[in-house]
Amino acid sequence: MTSYPALRKFVAPELIFGIGAAELAGQHIANLSARKVLFVTDEGMLKTPWPQMVMDSLSDEGVSYTLFSNVTPNPRDSEVMNGAEVFQKNRCEAIVVVGGGSAIDCAKAIGIVNTNRQNVLEFEGVDMVGHPGPPLVCVPTTSGSAADVSQFCIINDTARKVKIAIVSKTMVPDVSLIDPLLTTTMSPELTAHTGLDALTHAVEAYVSNANSPFTDLHALESVRQSATHLQTAIEEPQNLDARSGMSLASTYAGLAFSNAILGAVHAMSHSLGGMLDLPHGLCNAILLDHVIEFNFEAVPERYSNLARALGADIPEDMPVKDAKAATLEAFRDIKKRCGVEVTLAELGVGEEEIAALAATAINDPCMLTNPRQAIAAELEGVYGKAR
Ligand SMILES: [Fe+2]
Repeated sequence: MTSYPALRKFVAPELIFGIGAAELAGQHIANLSARKVLFVTDEGMLKTPWPQMVMDSLSDEGVSYTLFSNVTPNPRDSEVMNGAEVFQKNRCEAIVVVGGGSAIDCAKAIGIVNTNRQNVLEFEGVDMVGHPGPPLVCVPTTSGSAADVSQFCIINDTARKVKIAIVSKTMVPDVSLIDPLLTTTMSPELTAHTGLDALTHAVEAYVSNANSPFTDLHALESVRQSATHLQTAIEEPQNLDARSGMSLASTYAGLAFSNAILGAVHAMSHSLGGMLDLPHGLCNAILLDHVIEFNFEAVPERYSNLARALGADIPEDMPVKDAKAATLEAFRDIKKRCGVEVTLAELGVGEEEIAALAATAINDPCMLTNPRQAIAAELEGVYGKAR
């Protein structure tokens, strides 16, 4: 065993973080020499002031745009293909997206479909994208998915009812304008679900088989930021200190998981989201502690470090059994404080669906970096406990 770090790469977009970042969209598009952009958002977002704010910044720089807002949560293959058609018809040169993970993933996929002239489903897997898409500027409105910094893109294959993962360096956006002000319009429920998604990203990246000193640094600090700010962001939506803390938590977790990949929580959650169209962050939150319970003994020190970052008191010499109990308590406590106590059964997941869910999850690319190797029957057991 060597004590020096293994060979790893770390990719990230250009990041501008802080209040006022969203209004820099026009300037950044102008810097990229684009005169016409596809403006991707969703119908719900159009009811907030944020799309107009970003459109105004484009107009100020003489950049014109075509609006595409036909995007749903868990974005569908058909929506991506429609968006690519609108991009081509209007001779757009770049993409600006204002929204959460769904809108951003749709925008990323529209870009590569446009450049490669292929169906979006053909990019499924790791490094399957031939050419990068046009310039992409992201303005995230949630603090969770970190799609604005990651090399991941998740699209719903509507015919097969599964979520496909496109993982490629070409999916890292060019610029991310992370403005915590834009997250103040999230409901307490969405704040909780997206915040717990960010927490899950940090946890899975930290225990991943592909972790590195670069990803560890971001993952642990992300957990500390969530421990400090998540509950306040839920209870006080306008609290910019808490919102900024959660935007940092989400971005740090994104940088960690984009480079260290994820694990069984996301594999199992993608399967749930594909089959039953359930909210991604909520699925992760429900599964998180059950997967920790399953994985713990594979990397007990790493899970104990995560629990310490959440504020748990776990002395170095604590027996593994007790450290596991304290870790589970810390994660169950933050879930409870965020108001997530629902079970999969209460969301309508039937016992008869568990075998099919596990069969899909076991083949998800996120399983490759889970710290404990699993077989489908074991994942069935974990789903069963979360039910
Ligand atoms: Fe996620």
